[in-house]
Amino acid sequence: MCGIVGYIGKRKAYPVLINGLKRLEYRGYDSAGVALLNDDNELNVYKTKGKVSDLEAYTEDKDVSGTVGIAHTRWATHGEPNTANAHPHISSSGNLAIIHNGIIENYATLKRRLMEKGVEFKSNTDTEVLIQLIEYIQSTKNLDLLTAVRMALHTVIGAYAIAVIDKRNPDQIIAARKSSPLVVGIGEDEFFLGSDASPIIEYTKKVIYLDDKDIAIIHRGEEVKVVDFYNEEMKHDVTEVALDLAQIEKGGYPHFMLKEIFEQPDCLMDCMSGRVNVEANNVVLSAVIDHREQLVNARRFIIVACGTSWHAAQIGKQLLEDICKVPCEVEYASEFRYRNPVINNTDVVIAISQSGETADTLAAVELAKEKGAFIYGICNAIGSSIPRATHTGSYIHVGPEIGVASTKAFTGQVTVLTMLALALGKERGTIDEQKYKDLIKELYDIPEKMKELLKQCDAIRDISQIFTYARNFLYLGRGYNYPVALEGALKLKEISYIHAEGYPAAEMKHGPIALIDEEMPVVVIATKNVLYEKVLSNIQEIKARRARVIALVNEGDETIKRMADMVIELPHTMECLEPLLATIPLQLLAYFIAVCKGKDVDQPRNLAKSVTVE
Ligand code: AGP
Ligand code: GLU
Repeated sequence: MCGIVGYIGKRKAYPVLINGLKRLEYRGYDSAGVALLNDDNELNVYKTKGKVSDLEAYTEDKDVSGTVGIAHTRWATHGEPNTANAHPHISSSGNLAIIHNGIIENYATLKRRLMEKGVEFKSNTDTEVLIQLIEYIQSTKNLDLLTAVRMALHTVIGAYAIAVIDKRNPDQIIAARKSSPLVVGIGEDEFFLGSDASPIIEYTKKVIYLDDKDIAIIHRGEEVKVVDFYNEEMKHDVTEVALDLAQIEKGGYPHFMLKEIFEQPDCLMDCMSGRVNVEANNVVLSAVIDHREQLVNARRFIIVACGTSWHAAQIGKQLLEDICKVPCEVEYASEFRYRNPVINNTDVVIAISQSGETADTLAAVELAKEKGAFIYGICNAIGSSIPRATHTGSYIHVGPEIGVASTKAFTGQVTVLTMLALALGKERGTIDEQKYKDLIKELYDIPEKMKELLKQCDAIRDISQIFTYARNFLYLGRGYNYPVALEGALKLKEISYIHAEGYPAAEMKHGPIALIDEEMPVVVIATKNVLYEKVLSNIQEIKARRARVIALVNEGDETIKRMADMVIELPHTMECLEPLLATIPLQLLAYFIAVCKGKDVDQPRNLAKSVTVE
């Protein structure tokens, strides 16, 4: 959510900042802005509602010189998305500029106090309150910027990643974080700041991932210094980022989402690499080796997640209960964190998050940790907050996911959950040898089967074009495929803005059937498993109400072909692995419907890639 970029060094700051903002566009935003200090130490701030390209157009005839600057893409939380509320915000004197990601929870009280002291505000944001507070502290107590920032942060309640510049001290950027991500890039005589490493990697691979309550002092010609809110120097590791530019570019596809859908076979190979070994007939997860005791003896699993990751969790629950015979609960992280859950030290809490930055999931992790649970993270973004807050975990290793609608992260999460269930089931002795062996072999074959399935892309595009008229969609599935129905519906909602609901097929009769008529297409996942006959009856019930049925069936299923209006054939696999295949056509269906409707597929309205606020 929102993007932060900063630069100080020998280059012109403006192109680095604009380029960086473009790399962060995937996070979702509504306005953009930049603050630059030119060679005469004048502070130039330009901002505009809309896209980074609008900001570029706006600055065409402006002074964008200078070798230090900060830039921002905003995702409004306080105050409308308009130019006045866009960041950077400047202090009353015009000396300080700030960019901020997150929320200042006690901004109203602070604002009232500052107004009583005569401070005037130009925006409705919580962010402006912070910069005015910093200036107020600095000017009334005659302090340097770092001390004023530290003191202000002691007063502030909330989540933030910030960067501040002062035109009276043009060789320095002060950056700080609490619950929102921030990365410092270290080049040759130059430094970068980013919400993640993507705006930095084309210049340097050396980064410092700031920890919560870290303040970085980035000074031209000096080493980066990190202190805490009490000015105690903090140890920081410089890490090498294993990310290259091709991974964050579109590679010939019209949208990141389509590229990411097509990457899934390779991503899953990467995810399984070094972990699934068909010859040796085993699954090795280092977390399970290193923390065998806690994981194998877990009396209960509780999975916390949001959105698509929550759907993956629903599949994980079935896998862990089927294969490991351990009860498993799935909770929305946002509910879990506020309902005082009963947690024991024999519980293992699994946190699933693509971004590793989702505020609710992070808070759920902290709560479970306080209550004594052992925490296992399943994340994608390396070095993000959740993996750093957990006791152990497994990265899904699917590479950066740029499209706001999650695709490859979902299949990566399900793959890790399958590997986890297999590794623990084996250790616990709850899976028989033959099933263990078959599952390993089948899991390993999934990428090839995905490739086969992706060959139906054009046929799915043709089907999609028929349905752009629809205002509502119903998705039905059972067992392992019920979460797939939920995920298919979420994908369609997110990017095409068509209302869609996912339901367990048998629940249809308990309400949703009232909605079914010729205008409501129904997607049914109807693979040949124990519930096949029952799903057949559901299809008949739908057809009797004249709705059009798009059925996902196993290859060669002639029965459903005769009943449904359209079928998409899935390669055969074991039932618990079906979600890895069934999800793919639903991603493509949502993608093509949204493209046909002319929607912004990679950056859908109102959505952010990483939801770092509640
Ligand atoms: C997925 O398409 C969504 N954009 C959203 O539901 C997402 O899965 C959710 O916000 C959780 O994100 P996370 O996996 O990064 O924690
Ligand atoms: N709360 C701030 C605002 O509304 C920052 C939002 C963001 O993270 O982009 O301006």
